[in-house]
Amino acid sequence: MHRVAASSGPFTTCFSKFVSCNTYRIPSRRSLKTSASERRVPAFAFAFDIDGVLVRSSDPLPRAHMALNYLQSQRIPFILLTNGGGKHESERVDELSKKLDIPLDTSMFVQSHTPFADMNEYKDKTVMVVGGVEDNCRRVAERYGFKTVVTPGDVLTAYPEVWPFSQQLLPYYQTFSRPLPAPIDATSPSSSLKIDAVFVYNDPRDWGLDTQIIKDVLLSHNGILGTWSDKNGDASLPNKGFQQDGQPPLYFSNPDLLWAAKYHLPRLGQGGFREAFEGVWAALTGGPKNGVELYKTVMGKPHRPTYEFAEKRLIEHRKHLLRESGTNLGHLRRVYMVGDNPESDILGGNSYKSPHGTDWASVLVQTGVYKEGTTPAHKPRQIVRDVLDAVLFATAQEGWRR
Ligand code: G3P
Ligand code: MG
Repeated sequence: MHRVAASSGPFTTCFSKFVSCNTYRIPSRRSLKTSASERRVPAFAFAFDIDGVLVRSSDPLPRAHMALNYLQSQRIPFILLTNGGGKHESERVDELSKKLDIPLDTSMFVQSHTPFADMNEYKDKTVMVVGGVEDNCRRVAERYGFKTVVTPGDVLTAYPEVWPFSQQLLPYYQTFSRPLPAPIDATSPSSSLKIDAVFVYNDPRDWGLDTQIIKDVLLSHNGILGTWSDKNGDASLPNKGFQQDGQPPLYFSNPDLLWAAKYHLPRLGQGGFREAFEGVWAALTGGPKNGVELYKTVMGKPHRPTYEFAEKRLIEHRKHLLRESGTNLGHLRRVYMVGDNPESDILGGNSYKSPHGTDWASVLVQTGVYKEGTTPAHKPRQIVRDVLDAVLFATAQEGWRR
């Protein structure tokens, strides 16, 4: 691990002089033609984390535009790979393009819940979507093709007694909740609301309500809300009978305990909610001490499925971006995973073994969760000041002369 000196050297100045901030745009097809033959094909690419690397909440980080603008000027492929979400990819891409003043599109963009779009087995079922602002995540799920989507807010609006401690929020939930597709009627389970899968799409805003409703679903018989499985606690069964009675699977899209928001200290993320939920689950079931675990699937960085998904996106995007290079693209030799969170970006980049033999090199920036001068929990290939230094480091590593 080697620290790059603060980048105020001659290279940077001529760099900034080279790429004027706001004028450069993706070259037109015609100009591409003339210089195709002289165009080099980079055998490397980038995967950029968003929060703490390109933006802090809604504010773009100082040199993010210049870094991405340079890569676009050199036709060096990159994708954005975030554990964030809460809006449809097209909406976030529009927002980020404006904020960073960089043309982006959804083919180069992966959010924590983007892989849920491929889960066709639930699209004709009734799923519960948790988290995010109002019911934005429901509408994302519907745009992914999920036909029947219920939120904890819908349940509370229909049955306020289901969670006594969010009554003051009822007016808020009533502004976007929808009628349930079926009543909660424990007396006739066959016609009562049945949940077939639970997806936590984004950071929950009402941990109390969301914890209550998810717990009710996981302790129910067959995912039928309002029922209680008589297998719960049955020591003769695996997991002491918990989640042994047709309860739906539980998916979390993002493991981040902490993330870099506007505040100067990292904030609790979706991982904080999951840890709190697991605490309640353990208290209810006896937990690991009692041989009970919470069956769940956690997606997002550092987990492999997210990197596999992202690598596929990057390879496709690279093909598309360099389609007119007129030469064989060759192998994607290295991907620089640039992130601010050692637990997600760096661990994920370090442990991802690409089926294509591509080397994923992790680069840790100091503009987010990671605090300068501390020893990161997972050792990156390089520590740098910010995203522009990450690009400078990587292009120097690759001997890429502009
Ligand atoms: O909620 C988002 C947060 O967990 C981190 O996002 O972009 O740093 O992966 P990002
Ligand atoms: Mg981050």
